Amino acid sequence: MSAIPKTAPADHAPASPIQIRPLPGPLGAEVLGLDLSLPLSDADFRRIHRAHLDHHVLIFRDQRITPQQQVDFSRRFGPLQIHVLRNFQLPGHPEVLVVSNIKENGQPIGLGDAGAFWHSDLSYKEKPSMGSLLHAQELPADGGDTLFANQHAAYEGLPQALKRALDGKRAEHSYLAKYEELRARSPWRPPLTQKQIEEVRPVVHPVVRTHPETGRKALFVNEHFTTRILGIPEDESRDLLAELFKLSVQPQYLYTHVWQPGDMVFWDNRSVMHLAGGTPDHLRRKLYRTTIEGDIPF
Ligand code: SIN
Repeated sequence: MSAIPKTAPADHAPASPIQIRPLPGPLGAEVLGLDLSLPLSDADFRRIHRAHLDHHVLIFRDQRITPQQQVDFSRRFGPLQIHVLRNFQLPGHPEVLVVSNIKENGQPIGLGDAGAFWHSDLSYKEKPSMGSLLHAQELPADGGDTLFANQHAAYEGLPQALKRALDGKRAEHSYLAKYEELRARSPWRPPLTQKQIEEVRPVVHPVVRTHPETGRKALFVNEHFTTRILGIPEDESRDLLAELFKLSVQPQYLYTHVWQPGDMVFWDNRSVMHLAGGTPDHLRRKLYRTTIEGDIPF
């Protein structure tokens, strides 16, 4: 019997304690044994990157990290984006958007209706977000869940005739699509300046995008920002979008994240859409969000 070598092969870093534990549903995995307050080794970065591509949503439990550590970790995956609503930046950290229903001295401290409609983050930009990270700061005793829908599965589940009909189609995305509707019912949406409106000019993306790293196709239209499908009559576009919105969030494609203290959730906007499930008005909820710039969808 040959002896088991006592030393690790020369090119291997010491065995990592990270465990990737896939969730039973259509997406998601828990990442255990990683402290995001510490520098991330290249070997661990590669494992996280691979797991992110494989599972689309990663949940890092029990992270006691500062906003700067969230920014540093997020930056390992690409340049960060700054949200057009500057009033909800975390002071000193323009890359961190405060997502919260809390008011202090009568003023909202964060964007309380972020995620009110299904969406993929910043799909209204020429380069939408590759990934987003939300870190729990303060959680309600009830509600406050975040839902995710697997858009590879949604595409694969479409009838063949519909897949063919979508082939080569492009759709417009606009930050302003639901802005006035949200403004009418919430205290979180200030009137936009001309400069802000120019920053979020409508863009056009394929209705079905190809994931640039895995090559998998995904549906890429969402009820928050997608306004119309180009090249077909207005009423057909409206009906087709309504059908796609319904088909893309069927129960078999969904994972509902029930937040635990210290959770950091990192999702792939090229593979999933998400929705804030809602928080009762009298309960406080606060999370910090960073978004990583992606590439131009194709
Ligand atoms: C978001 O859409 O980024 C926020 C989601 C949430 O608050 O659950």
